[in-house]
Amino acid sequence: MSASHMDRVAALSKRRGFVFPGSEIYGGLQATYDYGPMGAELKRLIKEDWWRVMVRDREDVVGLDASILMAARVWEVSGHVAGFNDPLVDCKECKGRFRADRLAEAVCPKKPSRHPGECGHELTEPRQFNLMFRTKAGPVDDEAATVYLRPETAQGIFVNFKNVLETTRVRIPFGIAQIGKAFRNEIVTGNQLFRMREFEQMEMEFFCAPGTEEEWHAHWKEARLAWWRSLGVRAEKVRLRDHAADELAHYAKACADVEYEYPWGWDEVEGVANRTDFDLKAHQAGSGRGLAYRDEEQKAWVIPYVIEPSAGVDRCFLTILCDAYEEEVKPNGETRTVLRLHPRLAPIQVGVFPLVKKDGMPERARALYEGLKRTWRAQYDEGGTVGKRYARLDEIGTPYCVTIDSDTLVDGTVTVRDRDSMTQERVAAGQVGAYLEERERTWRRAAAAEPR
Ligand code: GAP
Repeated sequence: MSASHMDRVAALSKRRGFVFPGSEIYGGLQATYDYGPMGAELKRLIKEDWWRVMVRDREDVVGLDASILMAARVWEVSGHVAGFNDPLVDCKECKGRFRADRLAEAVCPKKPSRHPGECGHELTEPRQFNLMFRTKAGPVDDEAATVYLRPETAQGIFVNFKNVLETTRVRIPFGIAQIGKAFRNEIVTGNQLFRMREFEQMEMEFFCAPGTEEEWHAHWKEARLAWWRSLGVRAEKVRLRDHAADELAHYAKACADVEYEYPWGWDEVEGVANRTDFDLKAHQAGSGRGLAYRDEEQKAWVIPYVIEPSAGVDRCFLTILCDAYEEEVKPNGETRTVLRLHPRLAPIQVGVFPLVKKDGMPERARALYEGLKRTWRAQYDEGGTVGKRYARLDEIGTPYCVTIDSDTLVDGTVTVRDRDSMTQERVAAGQVGAYLEERERTWRRAAAAEPR
């Protein structure tokens, strides 16, 4: 993948209604993005797939949907008020602000060929910049009204640990999962959806007996890597990387990142951390509420250890788009752009076309579309040449297109065209649903074309 691969992915995502820059008609708001019709569907499908694998398919994980606004005390006790910081430096000349630990990735705004501090001007000493957004709740604008937009969804799970334990049948070891918005006032943003100030997380806190945490950490690292590969992304582009001690967050004893090889190199898409008993112990002390569980074997009250797989929805979305995007030369010499999305993640799974707008073909095509849309995300399209309709659906990742033509009127068969191979097969109209089901079940990512 070349650096311009990212620009092409961004251009396609705008052109086809996946992602638009936030507040665009007012000149935009840095690091915010809006999901268009195709993007909203893909994002929803990613979250549903995660929820299916992490909650519905498991007997030992339950779901939660906690509020974004939480008592300020939560963030004092969790260590975020004191410790959720990035080191910040200013250029004394141009007043640009940079992350002191990322200067090698930053460019001087005045001399873009240089890094800040190497342009002949001095930087200030680093100072700690807290990444949480602060605001006020209620009509009185005093210190007591301070609240923070949550920088991670995890704390909503920790403060509800006892509620879930007391109201469900789960017992240690078990997990609580949730998907929701998180906010960070990032100093450095960039690479489109990769680092935003408002984003979504899919997090699960898995509570286990002390002494079993390393085993569970190994389990969740492998389980999460397997999920990433199941999304249809190229296996060789996803890996696990253990953190060095100096990379660990203030709450973690160990952490492994799931990384993807983006156009700019390997980078984190998910963290799988061993948070020990740090959070529950801190909230027990901070709130005065007992957050231990009763271990009947030991006849003791015990604070569980926690393993946390935490993935970004938006980073997952970007990963899937980067991985699926390809430009390839067709046998006739023309270039086509195609999104090789896994059929289960395609916003539109099947396009249904009449070859021409006459001879009863639109009626036959509409009838087929009405039947398919009960099970599949289907789209009816009769505008433009069939070639143009294929090209449009290739760009939004639609894996199959069904065309009703003159033969349909004679023998009841239709043409099914495959997005990846561009081959066409004739299938009885009544068998299209079963055919699509089989193709989705056996789908494998085709070997990628050489990057252009
Ligand atoms: N509760 C643990 C936690 O929040 P993290 O590594 O800071 O850990 C977890 O974040 C995931 O959230 C990351 O792997 C990434 O996918 C996503 N994420 C974090 N900051 C982000 C940002 N500014 N923009 C988009 N996604 C972000």
